[in-house]
Parts: sequence; C-alpha cells; structure tokens
Amino acid sequence: MATTGCCLLSTFYFLFSRMLYREADKHDVPAMAQIRATSWGTPDYWVGRISRYMEGVDNPREALSPRTLYVAADGESLAGIIAGHLTRRHGCQGELEWIDVAEQYRGSGVASELFGHLATWFVSQHALKVCVDVDPTNSRARRFYARHGARPLNPHWMVWDDVGAVLRRDRGAN
Ligand SMILES: CC(C)(COP(=O)(O)OP(=O)(O)OC[C@H]1O[C@@H](n2cnc3c(N)ncnc32)[C@H](O)[C@@H]1OP(=O)(O)O)[C@@H](O)C(=O)NCCC(=O)NCCS
Repeated sequence: MATTGCCLLSTFYFLFSRMLYREADKHDVPAMAQIRATSWGTPDYWVGRISRYMEGVDNPREALSPRTLYVAADGESLAGIIAGHLTRRHGCQGELEWIDVAEQYRGSGVASELFGHLATWFVSQHALKVCVDVDPTNSRARRFYARHGARPLNPHWMVWDDVGAVLRRDRGAN
C-alpha cells in the first residue's frame, strides 16, 4: 500500500514536474527569503542574510570564500533552496548551510534533487567531507540527511564522510 502510494507520487511527479534546478542569483533572494522565513525569522531579515552570504560578506564560522546556492523553480515560484560553502569547521571540507523546501513540495523528491546539485558542486571542489548543523529535535531533516548517507557527528552536527560516494550510491539507486 505504502509502496504503491510512493510510486504513484513519484511517477506523477516525474511526468508532470516543470521543476528547474539552477544556480541562484540576486533576483532570487526575495523568494528565497520567503522560504527561509517559514522556519525562522522574517523575510526582511533573510533578504539581508542571504544577500550577504551570496556576496561573501557574511561568512559562517571558519568558512572559505567558495560557495554556491541553488534553487528549485516551479515556473515563477520557488519550491526550495540549498546553499553550501567550503570550510574548515569540524575538520570538514564543506558545510551545507541551508536547505528549505516549501511545505507543499515536501516529500516529493525536491529536497533530494537539491541535495544532489550541492553534493555535485562539493565534489567539483574536491570537498568530500561535508558537515551540517542540524537541531537535535529536527527529526525530519535528520531523517533526510541520514537517508542520504550522513551520520551523527555530535548532538548538533551530522557529517558525510565522502559525499562523492553518497552521490554515486544515490544515482545508482535511481
Ligand atoms: C529538511 C527538508 C528539506 C527535507 O525535505 P523533505 O521533502 O521534507 O524530505 P524528504 O525528501 O525526505 O521527504 C519526506 C518524506 O517523503 C518521502 N519522499 C521523498 N521523496 C519522495 C518521492 N519522490 N516520492 C514519494 N515520497 C517521497 C520520504 O520517504 C520521506 O518520508 P519520511 O519523512 O516518512 O521518512 C524539509 O523538510 C524542510 O524544508 N524542512 C524545513 C527546513 C529545515 O528543517 N531545514 C534543515 C535545517 S538543518
């Protein structure tokens, strides 16, 4: 029953999705801020924060300058965002900074596609060990990361020891 539901949803999504995955630019920032603000903060706050991160003005702890942001665009609106940068934090080479999928697109594979784009970028930067700061109570995000091969590093962080291997595994499964 659950399998049938899952496959029907996937098939529907595959056949009818108009989703475009692309690198974000400054014109995307207001819509990205709206999505971020559904979890925490205000759109105004996130417009400033995302802009400064994108421009390299804001640097998370131990961040290096290379970074990237992707969006999933469904026509004129955004379904999700992901961002990450190179780092030295926790002995990692990359950090997943933000991932957010709009409520109505959760459980549809958008998060996995976004993760695949960011993971591909990390591999292109030779950054295989990747960390993410995730609240211990955020069980949906923790399940998502674990499903994509991350393991707990400490109560607040999860880590991919080799994001390239995870990418090959995930692609092989599709
Ligand atoms: C974290 C987040 C990006 C994960 O995205 P998501 O769409 O919820 O996660 P998944 O892709 O794992 O999908 C959730 C469920 O749908 C199912 N699913 C995923 N892709 C599917 C597909 N193509 N077809 C059918 N079902 C699917 C999954 O099996 C999963 O089930 P489960 O939660 O019962 O295990 C999203 O929940 C979100 O934006 N959360 C708010 C922001 C946040 O917490 N960010 C992380 C901060 S560290």
